[in-house]
Amino acid sequence: MKPYDILAIGELNVDLILNRIDGEPEVGKEKFAGDMILTLGSSTAIFAANAAALGAKVGFVGMIGRDNFGELIKDSLEAKGVDTSMLIETDSLSSGATIVLNYGEDRAMITYQGAMAAMSFDDIDKAVFEKARHIHISSIFLQPALNADLEKLLAYARSRQVTTSLDTQWDPAETWKFDYARILPLVSVFLPNEKELMLLTSSSTVDEAVEKIRPYVNTAIIKMGNKGSLLVCKGREPEFLPSFLNKEVVDAIGAGDSFNAGCISRFVKGESLNDCQRFGNLMGAINTTAAGGTGAFTDKDRIEETARNKFNENITL
Ligand SMILES: Nc1ncnc2c1ncn2[C@@H]1O[C@H](COP(=O)(O)OP(=O)(O)OP(=O)(O)O)[C@@H](O)[C@H]1O
Ligand SMILES: [Mg+2]
Repeated sequence: MKPYDILAIGELNVDLILNRIDGEPEVGKEKFAGDMILTLGSSTAIFAANAAALGAKVGFVGMIGRDNFGELIKDSLEAKGVDTSMLIETDSLSSGATIVLNYGEDRAMITYQGAMAAMSFDDIDKAVFEKARHIHISSIFLQPALNADLEKLLAYARSRQVTTSLDTQWDPAETWKFDYARILPLVSVFLPNEKELMLLTSSSTVDEAVEKIRPYVNTAIIKMGNKGSLLVCKGREPEFLPSFLNKEVVDAIGAGDSFNAGCISRFVKGESLNDCQRFGNLMGAINTTAAGGTGAFTDKDRIEETARNKFNENITL
């Protein structure tokens, strides 16, 4: 028996969120914010926290600085039930941080990547591959050193009989460099959203993108916001599954990460791909019923209750 169902490999940072700001920032001037929150950021952390909330044993592999923000990141992950013993701490770089300036529905963000940009395959203790049944990799464009070794990492996982999932997330540089013909055969479950998939494959429609990746994927589930998701498997017709539509969305922050957490928590249990897709849709929908990426996933009872009361689904976690 391996100690972890899922190892999340990805970026870690704190978010310093400023609300009720008096106007937009201007160089040479000082302005006030009416409210400030310092909290764990990173979409891979939302994935890890929510997969743990759904009952999976989850560990995190990521790089942080040996600093106060690093401590906050560690404590916050542990409070969410995510094992932090495999985090890599460095003296030479600071932990990553994102300053979020909130203006109603819109926000301006500035990220200092710090340690997250430096972690490479060589930094990862290969013993971790013996400890987990599944590895989830996310946000590769925020982690250039890791991205450069992506093929090596996936091939190594495969050689250790560890299944993998990949959510590339957005590319802030918008170069979308991704060798899908080489990478996708090494990935068990590929989890982009539809916009990202089109950009990763230089396609102008989702259909065109799906046709491009189909010869190479094992399984892909393409997230389509409030429409639902599309399951693409080699040798099968793509299967669209409508969302559990939430008409009273609080916000959709982290819906994709919650989809991933739902989908992969089922995948590691050996459930069918259709079940993984359905559970992903349900967890994405549940995500939208509370603020932020983890607000709806505080404990199993609450998740079960939301599934029952809002979406008429009986689940047992
Ligand atoms: N309004 C909604 N109602 C119900 N379900 C939703 C809604 N919005 C999103 N979902 C579910 O969540 C899933 C993931 O959402 P989305 O497509 O926005 O992912 P994403 O773009 O990767 O998100 P993220 O910004 O978190 O990376 C969808 O496939 C859908 O099943
Ligand atoms: Mg996403």
